[in-house]
Amino acid sequence: MDKIIINGGKTQLKGEVVIEGAKNAVLPLLAATILPEEGVTKLTNVPILSDVFTMNNVVGGLDIKVDFDQEQNTVIVDAQGQILDEAPYEYVSKMRASIVVLGPILARNGHAKVSMPGGCTIGSRPIDLHLKGLEAMGAQITQIGGDITATAEKLKGTTIYMDFPSVGATQNLMMAATLAEGVTTIENAAREPEIVDLALLLNKMGADVKGAGTETLTITGVDKLHGAEHAVVQDRIEAGTFMVAAAMTSGDVLIKDAVWEHNRPLISKLMEMGVEVTDETAGIRVKADTSKLKPVTVKTLPHPGFPTDMQAQFTALMAVVKGESTMIETVFENRFQHLEEMRRMGLHSEILRDTAMIHGGSDLQGAPVMSTDLRASAALILTGMVANGTTTVGKLTHLDRGYYKFHEKLAALGADIERVSGE
Ligand code: UD1
Repeated sequence: MDKIIINGGKTQLKGEVVIEGAKNAVLPLLAATILPEEGVTKLTNVPILSDVFTMNNVVGGLDIKVDFDQEQNTVIVDAQGQILDEAPYEYVSKMRASIVVLGPILARNGHAKVSMPGGCTIGSRPIDLHLKGLEAMGAQITQIGGDITATAEKLKGTTIYMDFPSVGATQNLMMAATLAEGVTTIENAAREPEIVDLALLLNKMGADVKGAGTETLTITGVDKLHGAEHAVVQDRIEAGTFMVAAAMTSGDVLIKDAVWEHNRPLISKLMEMGVEVTDETAGIRVKADTSKLKPVTVKTLPHPGFPTDMQAQFTALMAVVKGESTMIETVFENRFQHLEEMRRMGLHSEILRDTAMIHGGSDLQGAPVMSTDLRASAALILTGMVANGTTTVGKLTHLDRGYYKFHEKLAALGADIERVSGE
């Protein structure tokens, strides 16, 4: 098992960092490549992440040709001809996001069998909204032996109101609706930039999706889709992670080509704390002096609220800011496990249901810690940079799902960090 070893305490990150294509965008984009029965689809700016390999296997397992050129960061998918309609447990159990293939397989083939995703460490992640939406479009759904089977010779457009603006359900339904008969309206839809990116690709494929980025999506079904070329949007969570890293080390870092609009909720909280954030032609610059930062209260919400995927990293920043900060996690109910690990490094915090009180500003000490989920792994590495002494972070399989060469990027900015292969 690999480990990351950090010698922390005096790190001040300085320089420029380049950000990859977004994990949370590329997975649904890969699912969308199932839809076209004519031509090939080329995705560029594809990040090299274990989740991308998993999704390539899910799509490839449908008898679709998937070619990942890691030198060029491109994936070319040829879904022409007959495709299979089953996504097995082997892959779905590895990555919950693979459930987004359900809508596209069903829409393309009239039948789909996808294994039900299992438990998740960050909290309950039901898929009822995905299934209810497909049922409203006329699909017959059964759940037997851990598999979901959906059948509909032709899906029918309808109006779907989602109880909660679920990102995954919006993506699944949006893709299914592209090949449905008539118009589908999704109300209270998710508005994340990754939804907008998916709509862009679908429209390039010949779909008619309107309203992406707003709470109402209107999709007029078409007979078939064709291949297209699309560059994956930049990873706002990776960009945000480096913004927080710069702030908590009293650094000065330019996050190249970062999109202000996508990171607005994070930027506004950084500014409220007293971090200097500037929109430059080349990207977003983040500069701070931690001794002058003020504690804040943050609440995670669906976009355009503060992203749950930045919660763990932001608590690491709260840990170095003198005073009492509050983090309220409203999206997932068990997403504070990193705070238990940070306690091993001397962080004082109390958790009561969805709220964590963080008593920041006291000295932190390096310690051996374990990643508990993807964003927690980044948060622990960031904390290791400001803790005195040596921190080792284990269980890096979580990190590799969503961050490409994280330690190398931090080292290039001045962190004393290395990754070692271990027993
Ligand atoms: C979530 C994040 C998304 C992030 C992604 C990857 C939100 C709203 N979503 O998306 O920004 O990119 O993780 O880490 O921040 N839910 C149901 N029924 C469903 C589906 C979801 O009740 O059928 C609930 C979940 O229990 C959870 C919430 O909705 O409380 C968010 O779920 P959803 O947006 O679907 O999660 P992801 O698509 O994984």
